[in-house]
Amino acid sequence: MNTRPKSQFAKELKDKDNVSSPFLIKFSAVAVGKNGKPYMNLVLMDKTGEIEARVWENANEHVGQAVRDAFVQVEGRCQTYQGRRQVVVNRLQVLREDEIEPKDYIAESPLNPDELHAQLLVYVESMKDPFYRALAEAVLRDDADLVQRMKRAPAAKSLHHAYRSGLIEHVLSITQILDHLAGHYGKHLDRDLLLLGGFFHDIGKLFELSYERVTDYTTEGKLIGHLVIGVEIVDRKIRELEAQSGRLPGSFPEEKKLLIKHVILAHHGLLEFGSPKRPKCLEALIVHMIDDLDSKVNAIQAFIEQDATPGAWTALNRQYERFFFKPEWAREEY
Ligand SMILES: [Fe+2]
Ligand SMILES: [Fe+2]
Repeated sequence: MNTRPKSQFAKELKDKDNVSSPFLIKFSAVAVGKNGKPYMNLVLMDKTGEIEARVWENANEHVGQAVRDAFVQVEGRCQTYQGRRQVVVNRLQVLREDEIEPKDYIAESPLNPDELHAQLLVYVESMKDPFYRALAEAVLRDDADLVQRMKRAPAAKSLHHAYRSGLIEHVLSITQILDHLAGHYGKHLDRDLLLLGGFFHDIGKLFELSYERVTDYTTEGKLIGHLVIGVEIVDRKIRELEAQSGRLPGSFPEEKKLLIKHVILAHHGLLEFGSPKRPKCLEALIVHMIDDLDSKVNAIQAFIEQDATPGAWTALNRQYERFFFKPEWAREEY
């Protein structure tokens, strides 16, 4: 089966360009215009980014077809409306999955997830505490479903590491920093607990987000959230370990259970950021601060890279409420 060539990418489309290319639909809704006629509001995406689109004519024909997660061949024209690029669609045709090359549509980590996972296992095997280590092995080495999810999941819908395998990239990055800090701050820190915090703080995201195509929150994610889902996973894995003979040197110590659950629950740092408890041990505080650091560095780097504003300053970043300075490598030639 021949696939449709992806000849144009969202990031490259400019005012007055004719558009003829497949895209993935990220968002789709029907609205009613001032003239009383229905029109379709779309966000089209591919691995380079996204662009808004409008279907003014015969919008009703596409309802139920041009839906989120659908691949569509788009014919139309790019124009600038109120300073924003927008594709006015003349023709829209839904494509089958075997007509497209999925790699063109979903951004992925530049790093190889199998290698990231192998590096993570080296940290697991370096742990000293037999209970913490058995728990890490049970989740990151022995549970094929969790491992497979871990290699694919993004770390977020849009804020940071928001691409395929972004979560494992984020987790390994944090684990490496935590390992340095365990050495830097010395003997009073529990290195194993810090590493577990790195591994598990966002493990609930494997179920908080759906990420087969467009990333979105699951019902479990909306109703429960990744902090509590993470605690549930840890709880379940400890019970499974306790039920298997020979996996643990004894029953899992109560205090250790509480500490790892606390590190997960406290990693957002503040009640208003979704943590039910603020960090109350040094390991929890450090995991929170390094998580914050790693996600901000990734988010701001990606923002600067993707910004197309001419000159030395980016457009306004709404999340951080500031303009960022663009180093020379990030400035486009005009
Ligand atoms: Fe988190
Ligand atoms: Fe995180």
